[in-house]
Amino acid sequence: MSTTPHPETIAVSAGRPKGIGEPLNHPIVLASNYRGEAGEYTRTHGTPGWIGLEEAVGALEGGRCVAFSSGMAAAAAAIFALAPKVLVLPTYSYLGVRALVADLVEQGRLEVRFVDIGNTADVIAALPGADVVWIETPTNPTLDVGDVKAICAAANAHGVKVVVDSTFATPICAQPLADGATIVIHSGTKFIGGHSDLLIGLCIASDDAVYDRLHHTRLVNGSTPGSLEAFLALRGIRTLPLRMERAQANAVEIVARLRAHPAVAEARYPGFGAMVSFVLAGGADAADAACRKVQLVVPATSLGGVETTMERRQKYAGDSHVPPGLIRMSVGIEHVDDIWADLAQAIS
Ligand SMILES: Cc1ncc(COP(=O)(O)O)c(C=O)c1O
Repeated sequence: MSTTPHPETIAVSAGRPKGIGEPLNHPIVLASNYRGEAGEYTRTHGTPGWIGLEEAVGALEGGRCVAFSSGMAAAAAAIFALAPKVLVLPTYSYLGVRALVADLVEQGRLEVRFVDIGNTADVIAALPGADVVWIETPTNPTLDVGDVKAICAAANAHGVKVVVDSTFATPICAQPLADGATIVIHSGTKFIGGHSDLLIGLCIASDDAVYDRLHHTRLVNGSTPGSLEAFLALRGIRTLPLRMERAQANAVEIVARLRAHPAVAEARYPGFGAMVSFVLAGGADAADAACRKVQLVVPATSLGGVETTMERRQKYAGDSHVPPGLIRMSVGIEHVDDIWADLAQAIS
């Protein structure tokens, strides 16, 4: 092909065996050890399935990918590989990442500057003297959006490395490496896998030295993905653009209907992707009742699957700072009228 392939084409074609007579998909290799004296061992050498997944994600993000056992393992690897002493972190970011960082702060190994990631001036003011800025965009669960390009430009000028957690954006809605990010991470457990049947994490870098550090980090930390999980994640990628197209169209429609509903005080939507957060005027009790009343929509904590899920977030200690009546919803690919009919009866 002479032209650069589109994401839909990359999603379908990348990461496949290419030789004549080879199967279309990499086999699921269930082996930790290899016969011989070359020292091949799965933690060090990987399996064909990991490599296929990494090729596809790397091609979608415009860099080189290292796959990990979970999104948290990928986040920890990014921190381990860049070893910051001073980290700029969004206040409203995924609670798991904040817990990881809090442990390091408690051990005296890291200083954190919390910022409002939607306020670019606030973020840029925190950069001098920092080592890494962590951009989660859109954030979990308040869906704040960071200006990746502007923050990367300022960070690069200050010699600050940039990590972007692009889990909610997916490689379909954003490619932060092109904007100057050092490492992009994904919880592949979510939209990339897309079927709520696996845990996997991904780090992508365009700089070879950063890629090498990430690869080495996986090797020494042993945070390797499973072969079955890698196979399933790559199979998920084949339909990622299609799923995102449908889920996003559903999300746009659901947000419009939520905004017109008298029980809803506020509906947040970043303008792309399939995550919606809405606040019920009746507060925590109304939100808990809605999560109990849904029948089609699944009351569940994870997100990014083909099915619509929702949950009230303030119930978690790590998210105690979000509005009590805030429900985070991951919009799936069901018919939008069926999602809405269920949601409307639950919030009414
Ligand atoms: C934005 C974000 N980053 C990272 C993670 C961690 O991913 P995992 O659960 O695959 O470890 C999550 C999980 O919910 C998330 O929402």
